[in-house]
Amino acid sequence: MSAPLKVAVAGLGVVGAETVRLIAEQGEILTRRCGRPVIVTAVSARERGRDRGISLDGIEWFDDSATMARDADADVICELIGGSDGIARDVCDAAMAAGRHVVTANKALIAMHGAGLGNTADAAGLTLAYEAAVAGGIPIIKALREGLAANRVTHLQGILNGTCNYILTVMRETGRDFSEILAEAQAHGYAEADPTFDVDGIDAAHKLAILTSVAFGCVIDFDAVHIEGIRHIDAIDIRFATELGYRIKLLGIAEMTDGGIQQRVHPAMVPIEAPIASVEGVFNGVVTEGDFVGTTMFEGRGAGAGPTASAVVADIVDIARGRGTPTFGVPTEELQTLRVAPMDERIGLYYVRVMVHDKPGIFADIAGALRDSQISIESAIQRGRAEGGIVPVVLTTHETKEAAMQHALGLIGALDSVAETPRMIRIETL
Ligand code: HSE
Repeated sequence: MSAPLKVAVAGLGVVGAETVRLIAEQGEILTRRCGRPVIVTAVSARERGRDRGISLDGIEWFDDSATMARDADADVICELIGGSDGIARDVCDAAMAAGRHVVTANKALIAMHGAGLGNTADAAGLTLAYEAAVAGGIPIIKALREGLAANRVTHLQGILNGTCNYILTVMRETGRDFSEILAEAQAHGYAEADPTFDVDGIDAAHKLAILTSVAFGCVIDFDAVHIEGIRHIDAIDIRFATELGYRIKLLGIAEMTDGGIQQRVHPAMVPIEAPIASVEGVFNGVVTEGDFVGTTMFEGRGAGAGPTASAVVADIVDIARGRGTPTFGVPTEELQTLRVAPMDERIGLYYVRVMVHDKPGIFADIAGALRDSQISIESAIQRGRAEGGIVPVVLTTHETKEAAMQHALGLIGALDSVAETPRMIRIETL
């Protein structure tokens, strides 16, 4: 039997503690799969005295995570602290400077600094592994980088944020509004006290930027991701979506277009029969399109202690076995810089809801704005009467360019009888 693989865990929050527990509890199976034991030799966290429900007997304690990354008796440092900079970054830098492999669950860190960290790892012959950073327990990095390595990926779309998917699911099931469900999710601890990164799409964009690099062999470019969150989704849009045969999901989408690579995170209507429409609640799902394999779909828990620790330890098993794959599928310095296709060039279907003062001729005015923007209407719903009051007009379009749709929305919003800014939701049919 070879010498044990020694692991140090930086950060003992729910994921860090679960990683320590998993390694202890699955010792026998891990030893068989790694060909040698995996042992935790050191941990670090801010509060030493806290009861985390795990035994730290025989494990060296460090108050400072960067010191641990440099000095611990360890082959691998797990960075489970979070945040794109600060201590998380220091831990990774210190670990690699000391010749130790790094495993991280930190999507913000990889999305913002993946290229630099990947270059450092490549130059030192070390592993920088981050399966847990994207879609929690779903092995999507391994699937893209290894399982689908024979393919050119042409399109990828995913539900990458469980908080948003949970909120949208409960909105549909109960007919209640976004803010009410968010408040309830926070009270139950399902959503962060500061939900900004989740509900405004930033968390999903971090994950999408990483997936795009692995799937398309390009340099991570978080700034190129078009980002919209779910705050503006109303209960009425969810009802109309159901009526039209769609579910509303926050999607991260990356696709190779004639104009370059397009990355976007935004709410989207997907056909009820599409596999991704059935990914509900806190679950994540990723659909990929490869030139030889066709469509593949992955679904599972995108967050939580167990699923995230499962992904962290899968990376540790690879290191224990000496299975090395370049960080993003190809050596980091060989990643390509692709032309970014601007959002204006998105071609697809659209849903538009306009709240109007109910009077003759308004429908014709809206149709005229679409005609003047060269947009063809696919369906229209305007029912009910509220003379003098406000009623919704709902339209779906045939395929059109985003730039034309934005032009039309400007014209519609400027009409006298339109009571609120028109709402637009893109329809995705992969
Ligand atoms: N906050 C994320 C989510 C999980 O709600 O999916 C961690 O990436």
